[in-house]
Amino acid sequence: MRGIVMNALTKDLKKCVKIAEKEAAGGRFLPKLHLMPPVGWLNDPNGLCQFNGVYHAFFQYSPFDACGGVKMWGHYTSSDMIFWKYEGVSLYPDQPFDCHGVYSGSALIDDGKMYLYYTGNVKLEDESYDYVNSGREANTVLVVSEDGKTFGCKKELMRNSDYPEGLTCHVRDPKVWKEDGTYYMIQGARTKDDTGKAIIFESKDKIHWTYKNSITSAQPFGYMWECPDYMEVDGVHLLSVSVQGLEGGIWDERNVYQSGYFTVSGDIFGAYELSEYHLWDYGFDYYAPQSFQAEDGRTIQLGWMGMPDCDEYTNLTIEDGWQHCFTFPREIHAKDGRIVQKPIRELDQYKIFVQEGTDEFFYRDAGVFDLKIEHIQEQFNVKLSKELTLAYENGQFCMRFSDQDKTSVSAGRGCRKVSVPQLDNVEILADVSCVEVFINDGAYVFSTRYYPQENMIEVSAPGADIQLYQIEACR
Ligand code: FRU
Repeated sequence: MRGIVMNALTKDLKKCVKIAEKEAAGGRFLPKLHLMPPVGWLNDPNGLCQFNGVYHAFFQYSPFDACGGVKMWGHYTSSDMIFWKYEGVSLYPDQPFDCHGVYSGSALIDDGKMYLYYTGNVKLEDESYDYVNSGREANTVLVVSEDGKTFGCKKELMRNSDYPEGLTCHVRDPKVWKEDGTYYMIQGARTKDDTGKAIIFESKDKIHWTYKNSITSAQPFGYMWECPDYMEVDGVHLLSVSVQGLEGGIWDERNVYQSGYFTVSGDIFGAYELSEYHLWDYGFDYYAPQSFQAEDGRTIQLGWMGMPDCDEYTNLTIEDGWQHCFTFPREIHAKDGRIVQKPIRELDQYKIFVQEGTDEFFYRDAGVFDLKIEHIQEQFNVKLSKELTLAYENGQFCMRFSDQDKTSVSAGRGCRKVSVPQLDNVEILADVSCVEVFINDGAYVFSTRYYPQENMIEVSAPGADIQLYQIEACR
């Protein structure tokens, strides 16, 4: 096993990151609640956990370029998931087995330590490689931290040759958990016949892993499953996957890639059955979510509030030297047979009541706010900053921008919708350039980035009760 804590490359990378971070991310679109990169680019949440009372959120980080680059793990900590402290970079791409990126992974808290599992990405150079079946290494790597601040030697645990037959080079994003004294790891994969699947390994010691089972849908569903996550929520077992390659029919009106979940019945380690696929989020900016169990037992999930490989729309923060953020942390629950999401309850103590109304509502300078609209009768229309409409029309909930120009408030975003048989309530959490909309107690969610010139709220919902809360600025 190779294991080097700090070599010459680590030292220089550390210096380069420090220099890059001197130009801290700025501009008028900086969110106040949503986690964003100190500078440059952020994608997936990684290693989410609560360790000795402290929340840890690592993130895929490319500090040198707001449009991405080699990935490392940046690190935030918090005592309440509202106020976060940037701790610097924890894992650099500095070893032969992760030199093209410390890719996504997870944290396991066990025997008083934090175990971080991730994919070491290696891209080989040769014209003959197609980078699907050849030219790429996906190594499973472990790093142990005793204190959540310092990170030990990297241990390469598995390589492509250790994964089951029939897979391409695309195997990644280990999520690890413990059940009945055994450790399990789930990874995302692309098979040689271009279908997405998740593969499960088991271990008795967290280091030696053997293949256990493959999980896939009855019919092929996309060509690659990224960032798999397996969780139990109020007694319901969920397999969350981020899927590449869904095309045709409803998918043509959705994002380039999807994130959603199957409910799992039977035995995930043996004979199982997957339900239909439900999207976690119907908006424009949502991918690669990861969950963790807080010490009080809640399942909390954060997603990347962005979209990879997306030509349709962009983010106006690139000119300010940064791009992307996480969703605000969400509690996941099962309620009346449905999986629901809501902003973590820690936010409640920062809400200051501003104004209430019925039927019609107008507010000019809203800032960071939470808008609750309850007892909706039938008609519902909300306009934010004159450009972003949330409406209920013909049984569909719709998020729509009036101008799709890439320099406008939408930065190119158009329309997303989903059928909602009956609309009861809507909660809108808006934070400068982030909007998350929770429908019917979080049974459906829409998230989007937007770039407003002015902060205006206009509501028309005859018969409904409307309440506006401002959220005390957090950053
Ligand atoms: C998902 C993903 C992961 C990968 C990481 C690299 O957005 O593609 O599969 O590990 O991003 O940054």
